[in-house]
Amino acid sequence: MLKRYPLCQITIVAFTIVLLGCDDSRSDRSSPPPQPNRPISSLGAAETIYPMPLAHGQDEDIALLGEQLFFDRNLSSNGSTSCASCHDLNRGGTDQLARSPGATGQLSSVNTPTVFNARFNFKQFWDGRADSLEEQALGPLTNPKEMNNTWSDILAYVSSNTEYATQFNAQFDAGVTKETVLTALAVYQRTLITPNSPFDQFLNGDEDAITDQAKQGFELFDDLGCSSCHQGVNVGGNMFQRIGVMGDYFADRGNVTEADFGLYNVTGIESDRYRFKVPSLRNVADTSPYFHDGSAPTLPEAVTIMARYQLGIELPQSDVDLLVSFLETLSAPPLEVRSTQASASNQAHQGEAR
Ligand code: HEC
Ligand code: HEC
Repeated sequence: MLKRYPLCQITIVAFTIVLLGCDDSRSDRSSPPPQPNRPISSLGAAETIYPMPLAHGQDEDIALLGEQLFFDRNLSSNGSTSCASCHDLNRGGTDQLARSPGATGQLSSVNTPTVFNARFNFKQFWDGRADSLEEQALGPLTNPKEMNNTWSDILAYVSSNTEYATQFNAQFDAGVTKETVLTALAVYQRTLITPNSPFDQFLNGDEDAITDQAKQGFELFDDLGCSSCHQGVNVGGNMFQRIGVMGDYFADRGNVTEADFGLYNVTGIESDRYRFKVPSLRNVADTSPYFHDGSAPTLPEAVTIMARYQLGIELPQSDVDLLVSFLETLSAPPLEVRSTQASASNQAHQGEAR
């Protein structure tokens, strides 16, 4: 029985059902529901977690142009850093570092989130300060801690590169402009969706796509209330929540910085202090370390901290293991990166680095 606790309580009334419900929950919590052919989507958290669509629906030519930009280190002030330096598509769309060095070697003030499925987040950045991927891309190109460039240098470089100029002129009436550079990057990033994870296959009706362990972890994720914050197609990314609902996370961690204020930095509203966009948990097994501060090195640690500070529960190791088994099923097969072009253009541009 997937909803085992409520069921066991209800069944205390009727002895026969007590046997059925509780015995079932003891022996195999993940056993299929009684009705044959009952849709999986009628179970537990499946109501709040949706499968990832299979197609990105973006213009392929503009995406290809965006891909070259994404991998191009010459968009940084000194030719050292591309978007992909911090958002490595072979590392879950992150660099797997707590803080990321930018073009000048300065470290980012927060952990690098994944670019995978970012289009499904209701806002961009930990504090939600950008409403779209276009608006988001404005940040890193000129941020001194990231690519440290200026728009006049970026546009001069892109339009002087004949390969880029030809493609931009073919795709956009306006040719190379700040807007079209941002559009190309955003369109490319909208192609970075990761469908077909084992959990998507399970949601779509393949009961054997995930292990019994993972099914029990999924059930626990729902029963404990993780899914009240981590939900939707991204298993997150659709609301702001405070870190430390049930305990003072920051007092326990110490060294509070401005970056820890989260949404407050955007709104100036006191009740928004320490509130962050609930991160997507898709591919989360590939994106360590965790949290906006990169403070949890492993997934079991992140899960333990979540239960403690968001739900006020000290989880036994066995439950942590079940939750991690479930979270691992949210990792999709690696994306096909068409970066023959991207890496070729990346290398070709190395010689031109300023
Ligand atoms: C130096 C490392 C670094 C580079 C280079 C970099 N990023 Fe990021 N990226 C980050 C960090 C750190 C954040 C989180 C910043 C924040 O939330 O305040 C981020 C956030 C994002 C997000 C938001 C994801 C979300 O879920 O909120 C997207 C999208 C993104 N970057 C795309 C890009 C693109 C496109 C480029 C190139 C133009 C780029 N990044 C270059 C480190 C980097
Ligand atoms: C009250 C809302 C809420 C609940 C309940 C909640 N989370 Fe979270 N979760 C968040 C927020 C907010 C963050 C980001 C915190 C930060 O970065 O400081 C987060 C971050 C995470 C991360 C790290 C993701 C990353 O990429 O860094 C994991 C893993 C996670 N949660 C798993 C869980 C699990 C498992 C549960 C249930 C035991 C749970 N969460 C319950 C709001 C919640």
